[in-house]
Amino acid sequence: MRKFKLNDRLKACADMVGNSKRIIDVGTDHAYLPIWLIMNGKVKYAIASDINPLPLKKAENNIEKYNLKGCIQLLMSDGLDAAAPDKVDEIVIAGMGGELISSIISKAPWVAAKRKKLILQPMSSECDLRTYLYNNKFRIQNEKAVFSSGKVYTVISAVYTGISEKVCIEYPYIGKLGDNVNRPAVAYMERQIRNLENMNKGALSANNMNAYYRNVRIINRIKNIINNFEDG
Ligand SMILES: C[S@@+](CC[C@H](N)C(=O)[O-])C[C@H]1O[C@@H](n2cnc3c(N)ncnc32)[C@H](O)[C@@H]1O
Repeated sequence: MRKFKLNDRLKACADMVGNSKRIIDVGTDHAYLPIWLIMNGKVKYAIASDINPLPLKKAENNIEKYNLKGCIQLLMSDGLDAAAPDKVDEIVIAGMGGELISSIISKAPWVAAKRKKLILQPMSSECDLRTYLYNNKFRIQNEKAVFSSGKVYTVISAVYTGISEKVCIEYPYIGKLGDNVNRPAVAYMERQIRNLENMNKGALSANNMNAYYRNVRIINRIKNIINNFEDG
């Protein structure tokens, strides 16, 4: 069979998939992720779903090219609307904004009720996504940063627990990356520090000193995590 390599961003998503038999890839586009997972024996069955017909056509062509029609089902669906909860063990939602990812999860209450494992790779608004997960009693089990095509991305695995966990003040900004510090995580945290510093320019000009000092505390805590990694 033709050799097939995922980019590092999608490979980090694939690495978060557990020993599950069935996954759904929401917003699959080219279907590279489910194709790779099947070809590498990580899952036995996958649903490649997308809201748009053109990506689904692309996915269909790729699935045919790799002769995987028997193990990957195509599904046209807005988020998880058309997905059958009992057909999937894990759900991947990659390459979309954090707000869209949150809205897809919130429109499918079975994700929480059936405690499905989520693998999420937001392209933006990661703070909103982590806040959504926290507010809705999903626990981030693992989070990993990765360099891909010269940029840094984060990949989150999460599951509903029904418990409001106590989290640290920097949690919306770096999630669980403090547990997994490596070069990409440092680059990601440095970017978050820059974002917070920019936010603080606004806070200062609006004379919002509460927000300013809160952000300073967060910045210092993130800097501490980075320093501990670099000293260690
Ligand atoms: C940038 S691509 C990401 C492709 C792939 N998941 C990746 O990470 O490389 C985003 C895909 O999400 C699809 N999409 C956007 N909104 C969606 C929704 N509400 N439900 C399902 N798919 C959606 C788009 O059609 C597009 O194919």
